[in-house]
Amino acid sequence: MRLEDVEAVLAIEEAVQAYPWTRGNFLDALAAGYDAFVALEDEAVVGFIVLMRAVDEAHLLVIGIAPGYQRAGYGRALLDHALRLMQGAGIRRLLLEVRPSNTAALAFYRQAGFAEIGRRRGYYPAAEGREDALVLAKELS
Ligand SMILES: CC(C)(COP(=O)(O)OP(=O)(O)OC[C@H]1O[C@@H](n2cnc3c(N)ncnc32)[C@H](O)[C@@H]1OP(=O)(O)O)[C@@H](O)C(=O)NCCC(=O)NCCS
Repeated sequence: MRLEDVEAVLAIEEAVQAYPWTRGNFLDALAAGYDAFVALEDEAVVGFIVLMRAVDEAHLLVIGIAPGYQRAGYGRALLDHALRLMQGAGIRRLLLEVRPSNTAALAFYRQAGFAEIGRRRGYYPAAEGREDALVLAKELS
């Protein structure tokens, strides 16, 4: 992901998330040197992923595929790219949080080999108060 991709990334994020990352969040992630990639179709950004490394673990911070391009393998391609990169860099575990209500994302992560390892109470803002987060992990060998 380059600086010039951020507007397209933000448009996708705002289309797919009720509580989207802001432009500032994406700019901060790039400035901090987080691993950030886009999926392109005909040179147009159709998806993105951002990860943060911490010693021998990495955290999947955000992933989004444009509504018209979901279920076409872009999410899996971005995730596989990130997994290969992390594995090559000696990262032993990839972690993420997901809303229990996000059944599509849960199916996506489970299909990719992630398992639930915990729950953070009231982690996310929600229409009525707060929503828990499920914590998912995938061991990289
Ligand atoms: C979750 C998301 C990133 C998945 O990306 P995608 O490109 O649509 O998914 P893929 O096409 O790579 O799917 C790979 C596999 O994951 C599973 N999967 C993906 N979406 C699914 C859905 N809606 N329902 C059930 N299984 C699903 C399937 O097993 C799929 O393989 P198949 O299509 O051969 O059956 C995408 O739907 C998205 O951007 N959602 C909105 C944002 C979001 O929720 N981000 C995650 C927040 S934690």
